[in-house]
Amino acid sequence: MTLIEEINKRRTFAIISHPDAGKTTLTEKLLLYGGAIHLAGSIKSRKTQRHAVSDWMEIEKQRGISVTSSVLQFDYAGCRINILDTPGHQDFSEDTYRTLMAVDSAVMILDAAKGVEAQTKKLFKVCRERRIPIFTFINKLDRYGKIPLDLLDEIEKVLGIPAYPMNFPIGIDGKYLGVFDRQKNLIELFAEDTTHGQKERASEIFAADDSEVIKRIGQENFDALQDDLMLLDEAGEVFDKKKIDAGELTPTFFGSAMTNFGVKNFLEEYLRLAPPPAPRLSSDGVIVPEDEKFSAFVFKIQANMNPAHRDRLAFIRICSGKFERNMTVWHAPSDKIIKLSQPQQFLAQDRQIIDEAFPGDIVGLFDPGIFGIGDTLTDAAHKFKFEDFPTFPPEKFARVQAKDTMKRKQFAKGIDQLTQEGAIQLFNQVGAGTESYVVGTVGTLQFEVLQYRLKAEYGVDILMTMLPFEVARWLKFSDGAKVSPTNLRGTDRGMFVLDRAENPVLLVENEWALGWIRDNNPKLEMNATPFQS
Ligand code: G4P
Repeated sequence: MTLIEEINKRRTFAIISHPDAGKTTLTEKLLLYGGAIHLAGSIKSRKTQRHAVSDWMEIEKQRGISVTSSVLQFDYAGCRINILDTPGHQDFSEDTYRTLMAVDSAVMILDAAKGVEAQTKKLFKVCRERRIPIFTFINKLDRYGKIPLDLLDEIEKVLGIPAYPMNFPIGIDGKYLGVFDRQKNLIELFAEDTTHGQKERASEIFAADDSEVIKRIGQENFDALQDDLMLLDEAGEVFDKKKIDAGELTPTFFGSAMTNFGVKNFLEEYLRLAPPPAPRLSSDGVIVPEDEKFSAFVFKIQANMNPAHRDRLAFIRICSGKFERNMTVWHAPSDKIIKLSQPQQFLAQDRQIIDEAFPGDIVGLFDPGIFGIGDTLTDAAHKFKFEDFPTFPPEKFARVQAKDTMKRKQFAKGIDQLTQEGAIQLFNQVGAGTESYVVGTVGTLQFEVLQYRLKAEYGVDILMTMLPFEVARWLKFSDGAKVSPTNLRGTDRGMFVLDRAENPVLLVENEWALGWIRDNNPKLEMNATPFQS
């Protein structure tokens, strides 16, 4: 297969949703249809033994939420699919944002009864900013929910993106019998779900005007469908592939991940419409995937994913050229040539060493401690850097120290590791010594993860005291004078700390306090992220 053929068959995407909308269930069903698993529910069944293929860490199983992003790969109908799992919990936005940097499209799941929820809005916003195509799957159609036309309206009003329904449910009040495929003008009626969604669901396909349809669905349902379709044709959106590609129109599907209603149709249409790996901006202009010279970037680092493999992995997204095991590449930040050995691909905990990979693929590299998030890797003959990742200011702060001072070394090692993974940001309070650190995160759940991982992976119990700050500001004086606690005024209620690169940072309670400090220090410049030098 040529490089272009390899690229064209790849679809790399993330599923975004509010917790509980059905992301795990849909992922599992896609794997079922893709033949990667044979019985759905083997992955995640009851709440009591809740775990998903994409759940790696014990904490995820315990809490029933997905904490870290994972990668799943499978083939379907000639396509190579890479699904990047994004944590649905609102506290994990930073990790999620980074994952969204590595995809070419997104699938947004809505719960038909709840419509657009808070977390959906946040994640949607990131996708929108990246201008990637967004496909919508309205889930849980097997039970009572909002009226389908109202849901389409809600997407447009709340998210500001018009929705084009690719299919439309047939039936009334949550008793749906099938879907009308608006592109193919076909009706798909589903058989009863007799396997509780464990196996593919049987269905029959009819032409829209087949008289058998009325017999099967009844006159009332048939009339209701005609009315809705007429409304859609008259007042609804027009299908426009260009707008879909630009992330300005979301193709919308109705279905039920749990009962496999509409899942196959969704998967097939998604694969048909979703884009293959896209070009990316770099310091040397646009890099197209067909460029024979290899390039990739690191979007995630994770250590100790599995107690059986106590190592650290850097996840790269390939952007151009062909990846080969043991190839040598240029690593942008260190300006060194490095060898990429032991590359791995994933079906959750199952890892495989791979020999080659192509644009759109995600590869896990053994990381001896050289990689950082956002790092670019390129062919040594064509050196450049991909655009920077966005950074997010921390909003929660705590002082942490090891309970047992004998464990200081492991404590420092664990903290260092989690900082490099980008899970926490580390600060030192000036004059506080090295026994304790100030840790900043985007959300409070990360503190639990910190506590859990230090214990599970480094055997360290920690003491943690939450600090009353919500805002961090990197500081500099406009006249170049050195910033220190002694030459700042009005900062008594804040905390003066240094980040890892020893840049001065002030932690304060709220935005209001910032105004006060600004008034008292006219030459002080403040930034929510480190100043670029
Ligand atoms: P998430 O990853 O987005 O958080 O959602 P997840 O798939 O875990 O689904 C959340 C709950 O919604 C689960 O129920 C799941 O079974 C249910 N669900 C998912 N898709 C559908 C659907 O199409 N129809 C209906 N009726 N329910 C659906 P749970 O009771 O929390 O867990 P479990 O006991 O089923 O595992």
